[in-house]
Amino acid sequence: MIVVLNNKCNLNREQFFNYQKQLEKITSNHILVLCPSNIYLEDFSLKNFSLGVQNVSPYEEGAYTGETSASQLKSLGVSYALVGHSERRLYFGETERDLKNKIETLLSYGITPILCIGQTKKQEGMRIVENQLQILKSIEKNEQVIIAYEPVWAIGTGEVPTIEEVEKVVSLIKEKFPHHSIIYGGSVNENNIYNLKSSLLDGYLLGGLSLKPDRLQQFLNRLDKENHIG
Ligand code: 13P
Repeated sequence: MIVVLNNKCNLNREQFFNYQKQLEKITSNHILVLCPSNIYLEDFSLKNFSLGVQNVSPYEEGAYTGETSASQLKSLGVSYALVGHSERRLYFGETERDLKNKIETLLSYGITPILCIGQTKKQEGMRIVENQLQILKSIEKNEQVIIAYEPVWAIGTGEVPTIEEVEKVVSLIKEKFPHHSIIYGGSVNENNIYNLKSSLLDGYLLGGLSLKPDRLQQFLNRLDKENHIG
């Protein structure tokens, strides 16, 4: 399995160094990916994690003030990149065109894109997810792209869908993209992981929990355990 930590816009410099010291002690059989703020990419020193980012420029290089390109990220040892996180779609107006360019440029530099999709309201049907996945159809050799299903209403709210609800969406994704890894994100923690396991899932994307190393270790331990009875 792959477990991706999205720190979002958190941790000042001193906090990041303390945090990284705690993460050094994390043990797991799974692939662990840390996506810190870009300002800490050069400070990343963990042997037990791969390095990821939360965003990438849709442009290769040049006069794009404030952007960080896939080639720059590659030169810092980045192997994974989130693309189209709902917070980026909502607050930074990312368009389908941007997402396509981001995925293509990442693939060309050998960085694994993690395409985030998900409906905004619990009642919304699959159409949103299906539309968001259309983008993959226009990208060649896209099997490397990991699909992260994150219902927007579950992000940071403490509310999670039932595993049946998750599996319904994941089955539909798998029907159309049978070769892609699919992970789930949205209020996942060390307690609800028992209810969020599925043979259809290849991993998890963690926001809030990523900032709590002790609880993260508990989550990872429980990921490997059979579910509690009772
Ligand atoms: P939370 O785990 O805090 O709900 O965040 C999920 C997320 O957005 C990860 O990308």
